[in-house]
Amino acid sequence: MRPENFLLEKYMGIYEFSAPYLLCTSDCETITVSELLSFEEGAEAGLMDLRLGYTEARGGKELREEISKLYGNISPDDVITFAGAEEGIFIFMNAVLSKGDHVIVQFPAYQSLYEIAEAIGCEVTLWEMKEEDGWKPDPDFLVKNIRKNTKAIIINSPHNPTGFNFPKEDFGTIVNAARENDLYLFSDEVYRQLEFDPGTRLPAAADLYEKGFSLGVMSKAFGLAGLRSGWIAARNRETLEKISSLKDYTTICSSAPSEYLAAVALRHSDRLVDRSLGIIKKNLEILDPFMERHSDLFEWVRPVAASIGFVKLKNGVSATDFCKKVVDETGVLLMPSTVYGFGDSHFRVGFGREDMEQCLEKFEIFLKNNY
Ligand SMILES: Cc1ncc(COP(=O)(O)O)c(C=O)c1O
Repeated sequence: MRPENFLLEKYMGIYEFSAPYLLCTSDCETITVSELLSFEEGAEAGLMDLRLGYTEARGGKELREEISKLYGNISPDDVITFAGAEEGIFIFMNAVLSKGDHVIVQFPAYQSLYEIAEAIGCEVTLWEMKEEDGWKPDPDFLVKNIRKNTKAIIINSPHNPTGFNFPKEDFGTIVNAARENDLYLFSDEVYRQLEFDPGTRLPAAADLYEKGFSLGVMSKAFGLAGLRSGWIAARNRETLEKISSLKDYTTICSSAPSEYLAAVALRHSDRLVDRSLGIIKKNLEILDPFMERHSDLFEWVRPVAASIGFVKLKNGVSATDFCKKVVDETGVLLMPSTVYGFGDSHFRVGFGREDMEQCLEKFEIFLKNNY
């Protein structure tokens, strides 16, 4: 199995640690180890006393317990942890899919959500989101494209890169389509809890559906990407067993300090999520008028969740050229839609970081000088 290069990760590999103003990141502002440990009496001493041996292959019990509390119907034994969400995607696809299977994947998408299936030799139908409908993909398309050999529906909501979140009724249609056709539903929920209106939060696929697999991670809403701590929650024990067996060939078990810190963080998950949402909302108060001021050049469907949005460049401007010029001249990093294989007229903007105001100031000077 040889997947094509992961374009987004290659792009970030070039710029993430050299460009000074990151205006396209999807993870929220992080905190230090000592800040995290200060959340809880005794947490620092516990870390110092931690023994650095292997941990349980499916994830430490304490961590799986905290993860299971994020769901309604999930027990610690319904959870497997991974080195980030990325390992969870890779292993799920390899455990469940075979050459010749058909999958339907919401698109545009974080590349591994369709690339791994393609590399396995699956037939992949891209379920395109419609910008003119507020990025809502057409539920009829999904239902009509289910075939005899369809094995899985793969979705991501809240969505990277648009900040779209499925309306509840559409999510219901997806679950029903999966159930009626006995399909896996792989639901990438890594931006869950970052809904701007908590009333729009969707149920987790794992809670709702027997073949629903919910993907979660510490990186986004909790701002702890450096822990490389992710998980899959699902009630389908047989498939979890297959997933667990494949993990024996990748990381075997998670890093003990990461597991410890992730468990501390999840015991204070509300505090971390409130902090991330606070940063996002404050940033949107600046970003909204910025977009308004530059409406001759930019157009966007304002995100309803997550820390990212997808901006359209008007007048046929190439996103690749535009992003390159911006980063070369100002050090402000945007992300062109070409890394999503989605044309050359959009760029991703990220608004989960504390220095967004400075990034926008630099960007605005560039716009004044060039447009
Ligand atoms: C939709 C989506 N899924 C999965 C991942 C992978 O998360 P992690 O880098 O924490 O493994 C990302 C990261 O950007 C993402 O946006």
